Amino acid sequence: MFTGKIVEEFKIDGDFIRIRYIKFEDFKDLQEHINSLVEEGAYLNRQKKVNKKEGLEFITDFLKKIENKESVALVAEVNGKVMGLAKINKKKGAESHVGVLGIAIRKEIRGRGIGKRLAELLIKEAKKHLKIEIVELEVFAENKVAYNLYKKLGFKKAGVVRNGLKKNGKYFDRILMVKY
Ligand SMILES: CC(C)(COP(=O)(O)OP(=O)(O)OC[C@H]1O[C@@H](n2cnc3c(N)ncnc32)[C@H](O)[C@@H]1OP(=O)(O)O)[C@@H](O)C(=O)NCCC(=O)NCCS
Repeated sequence: MFTGKIVEEFKIDGDFIRIRYIKFEDFKDLQEHINSLVEEGAYLNRQKKVNKKEGLEFITDFLKKIENKESVALVAEVNGKVMGLAKINKKKGAESHVGVLGIAIRKEIRGRGIGKRLAELLIKEAKKHLKIEIVELEVFAENKVAYNLYKKLGFKKAGVVRNGLKKNGKYFDRILMVKY
């Protein structure tokens, strides 16, 4: 029902942008996308590259969760290539009105408004299909770009875990942000 469904299409400086639900055929582009973020040392939890088997497992699992209305995952295609991924996973039990957001855009296309639009559409889709009331996320305190984006989207800082993240032996504060 949702696989590959187009949510929005627009142009930025001559580039054709399509925001759509993920589909199975994305596994290769997504593996490349995640690995490029790991290589870059982006402010993300993942620190290890994804191999083909993990990439296939990731997409199969997500497609199932989307059809079960447990997750929404959208990609940003730029001229036909997947260059960004954003997802919300619904929590369980007494937290099932809460979704957890994650987003990452390829370095080459940042700063052009694509991340913001992708996140806005993701939240809209999640509200509609997952029936969530609260979206939360965690961000490295040093990640000013993401922090600014979330503030623009209406997220508020809800707390800080000092040294809550450790990457390559270095500690970072972890900020929790919430949008009602
Ligand atoms: C965070 C991220 C998704 C933003 O995507 P993007 O497409 O570059 O962002 P946009 O161009 O849509 O900009 C949205 C807002 O982010 C902020 N922003 C973007 N670039 C910025 C920069 N260089 N410096 C400071 N703030 C910046 C601004 O508030 C901007 O809004 P404005 O243009 O109206 O001022 C992207 O930088 C990314 O994927 N980074 C690596 C992975 C990551 O950190 N993910 C978040 C993990 S919590």
